[in-house]
Amino acid sequence: MKVTVFGTGYVGLTQAVCLAQVGHSVLCMDINAERVAALSEGHCPIFEPGLAPLLEKNLACGRLRFTTDAAEAAQYGRLHFIAVGTPPQADGSADMRYVFSVIDSILEHADGPKVIVNKSTSPVGTVDRIKARISQAVADADRYQVISNPEFLKEGSAVEDCMRPDRIIIGGAAPAEVELLRELYQPFSRNHEKVMVMDARSAELTKYAANCMLATKISFINEMANLAEHLGADIEMVRRGIGSDPRIGYDFIYPGCGFGGSCFPKDLQALRRTAEAEGLDPLLLGAVEAVNQRQKSRLFSKIQRHYPGGLHGKVFALWGLSFKANTDDIREASSLVLLEALWAAGASVQAHDPQAMHEIQRHYGARPDLKLVPCKDDALEGADALVIVTEWQDYRVLNLDKVPQQLADRVVFDGRNLFEPEHMAAAGLTYYGIGRGQVNPPCPY
Ligand SMILES: NC(=O)c1ccc[n+]([C@@H]2O[C@H](COP(=O)([O-])OP(=O)(O)OC[C@H]3O[C@@H](n4cnc5c(N)ncnc54)[C@H](O)[C@@H]3O)[C@@H](O)[C@H]2O)c1
Repeated sequence: MKVTVFGTGYVGLTQAVCLAQVGHSVLCMDINAERVAALSEGHCPIFEPGLAPLLEKNLACGRLRFTTDAAEAAQYGRLHFIAVGTPPQADGSADMRYVFSVIDSILEHADGPKVIVNKSTSPVGTVDRIKARISQAVADADRYQVISNPEFLKEGSAVEDCMRPDRIIIGGAAPAEVELLRELYQPFSRNHEKVMVMDARSAELTKYAANCMLATKISFINEMANLAEHLGADIEMVRRGIGSDPRIGYDFIYPGCGFGGSCFPKDLQALRRTAEAEGLDPLLLGAVEAVNQRQKSRLFSKIQRHYPGGLHGKVFALWGLSFKANTDDIREASSLVLLEALWAAGASVQAHDPQAMHEIQRHYGARPDLKLVPCKDDALEGADALVIVTEWQDYRVLNLDKVPQQLADRVVFDGRNLFEPEHMAAAGLTYYGIGRGQVNPPCPY
C-alpha cells in the first residue's frame, strides 16, 4: 500500500520504517531539511534500538523515501499518517499548529481521495475539528476521511512495540476505512487480532487515559517512597509486596527521581486543560503532576542535606542524562532539573550517558561546569560524589573495590534504587536511595 507519513520524529520515523519493512511503500515528509537530508543518506537522527539497520535496509530496497516537498507528499499516499509534535503551550494545552499545518498542506496539494490518519496525541475533538477545517476549506470535503489512530509505542522499544503492538485503536472510521487499516496493519496482527474499532473521541481519550494512568502509578509509588523514608520502611520491599498482587502488577511502580519524556508530562497537562475547559476540576491529574515536579527535586534536596556547608566547588559524577534508559531523548528529563540546581549552587558536573550526551551538548552548549566523558568510570575521576539519574543497564554494577577510593566524599545518591543500602555501607559508602528508610533493626534477608 502507498503511505505518506508526515513527521520523522520518534513516532513518524519508527512507523514509516516498520511499514516499509513489512512491504508497504512509504514516503516520509518533514519540514526539517537537515533531518530529511540525513535520513535520505541512511543516517538515523535518533537512537532507538533496531531502528538504524531497518532504515538502511528499506532505503536501499526503495520502499522508503524522505522528502521536504509537501506537494509530493500530499499526492503520494492513499493513506496520510500525521505524526508531528503536539507540544504543550504556555497554559499546558496541546499546541495543534503542526497538525493543522499538515492538514492545510494536504488540502492545498492533494489530487484525489485521501484517508487522513492522526497518530499525533491530540485533544478529544481533534478529528471533529479537522473535519470542520476541511469542510470550510474545500467544496469536495467528502473526498477526505479522517481517523484517529493513537500511537502507543514506547521510546527505547519503539521498533519492537510497532512490530508487535498490544492494540491498534482505530477511531471514527467508516467500515471501508476500517478494512483499509486492517489490511495495512495485518502484518502486525498475525498473533491475534489487535485492531479495536471505536468512535474518534473515545480513541483520542484512550491515548491520554493510558499515559495518565501510567504516570499516576509512578507518582503513587513515589509518594509511598517518601512516606517510607519517614516511617523507617524500605520501599523496595513495599514495591515487591504490592506488585505481587496481580490487580496491581510490577510494571510502572519503580520509585525514582521523577518521570520525564515528551509524553507523560505534556499529556497530563493537556488532559487537565481539556477537563478544565469543560468546567471540571481534575484533582487527581493535578496531584500526579505536582508529585512528579517535587520528585524531580528529591535528589538535589538529598545532596543539599548531605552538604550543609554548601556545594560550591564540589564535583559530582553524574550517570544518566536521558529521561529513561535506551533512548537519547532528554525532553523533560530529571537530569536537567538536577544539573541546573547543581550549577546554581556552584557545583560542577562530570556526566556520562550511553546515548544522550550529544543532546545535552546541544541543549546547554559548552560550559566550564559541565564535562561530558566517554566512559562512566571517567566521570568518577576527581569527583566528590556520584549521582545516578537514569537506569541504564550500564550502571547496574558498581565496582565496590574501586569506587569508594575514587570518590573523595565516598557518597552515592541513587535516583533509581539500583543498589542495596547494606552493600554500599559495607563498602564504606554513604548511600542515599529513594524511599529506602532506615529499617531498624535491619532486615536479615
Ligand atoms: N515519542 C513518543 O514516545 C510518543 C509515543 C506515542 C505518541 N507520541 C505522540 O506522537 C506525536 C509525535 O511525537 P514524536 O516524539 O515523534 O515527535 P518529535 O518531536 O520527535 O517529531 C516531530 C517531527 O514532526 C516534524 N514536523 C513538524 N511540523 C511538520 C509538518 N508540518 N510537516 C511535516 N513534519 C513536521 C518535526 O520537524 C519533527 O521532526 C506527538 O503528538 C506525541 O505526543 C509520541
